[in-house]
Amino acid sequence: MVESGISDYPQTAPGTGSHGSETENFLLLFNAFFGFSEQPFNNTPDPHFFFTSRRHCEALLSISFGVKQRRGFIVVTGEVGSGKTTLCRQFLHQLSPEIKTAVILNPKISGTHLLGSVIHDFGIECRGRTKRDYFEALNKFLIDGLGHEQNACLIIDEAQGLNVRLLEEIRLLSNLETSKQKLLQIVLLGQPELRDLLKKTSLRQLRQRIGVYAHLQGLDLEETQSYIHHRLTQAGSSPEQIWFAPQVVAKIHEVTRGIPRLVNTVCDRVLMAAYSQQTKEITSDVATCAFEELAFICA
Ligand SMILES: Nc1ncnc2c1ncn2[C@@H]1O[C@H](COP(=O)(O)OP(=O)(O)OP(=O)(O)O)[C@@H](O)[C@H]1O
Ligand SMILES: [Mg+2]
Repeated sequence: MVESGISDYPQTAPGTGSHGSETENFLLLFNAFFGFSEQPFNNTPDPHFFFTSRRHCEALLSISFGVKQRRGFIVVTGEVGSGKTTLCRQFLHQLSPEIKTAVILNPKISGTHLLGSVIHDFGIECRGRTKRDYFEALNKFLIDGLGHEQNACLIIDEAQGLNVRLLEEIRLLSNLETSKQKLLQIVLLGQPELRDLLKKTSLRQLRQRIGVYAHLQGLDLEETQSYIHHRLTQAGSSPEQIWFAPQVVAKIHEVTRGIPRLVNTVCDRVLMAAYSQQTKEITSDVATCAFEELAFICA
């Protein structure tokens, strides 16, 4: 989307060779115009841009608390684009070294493959390749870790993609425990479908073991404004230098329902429109075409 509009924008140096360098040139000029050291609204889960909305803050505390208190299962659900993966990155970013982690990003795998990935991520040496070998190696790792005051946390993102069988196998991992505490803390992050999945009767044993639960929603209007300001500031500019009219923020909140991924996409497009008009005042007139273009994405 950005590239297709590049030729419409002012100040792109003509004939700079490849399309790649034209894009780079454009970004340099774009960033210089607004005073950015990096793009403010990239859709990446970068902890540098982490914004602590009330819900994000609560969810982060829930994960940290659940892991430190060895609560076994911790479940975080949230709408598409609401910030689950970003939350996970932030949690990993601020994690103390005595907590060892394994992260599964794509859980559409077999039980053996999942265990193999967990073993690999924890850095456990395991000669065998069977499920039993993996299980025993993991158990030994966790018990050794306990002796060194370590804790271990398995994070599974996109957990709505797990099937019932795999969830049952994951539940068995939570049985690794001493008489006093859970050896492995398991964080499941997923879209609201995960909640529906966990409601299944066949998963009631797992459901009963959920020690901490949090749900992410879109930002409210005030938070949406703070979120935009926060990202502008983290990118090296400030709300004083780039002014978003209150009506524009209200419209952004309305069309995106405060979902951070959509807020990013809309703000990115709005800034492109502002750049093309060489203004740092984002009024409704400047932003209108962005809203029209993105109505389909935000629907
Ligand atoms: N708390 C936050 N602070 C800063 N940026 C955020 C925050 N939450 C989300 N974002 C932004 O929104 C984008 C989408 O968030 P993320 O990928 O974490 O959503 P998700 O809930 O994992 O989505 P999906 O359901 O598609 O996996 C991120 O790339 C990030 O740029
Ligand atoms: Mg995600």
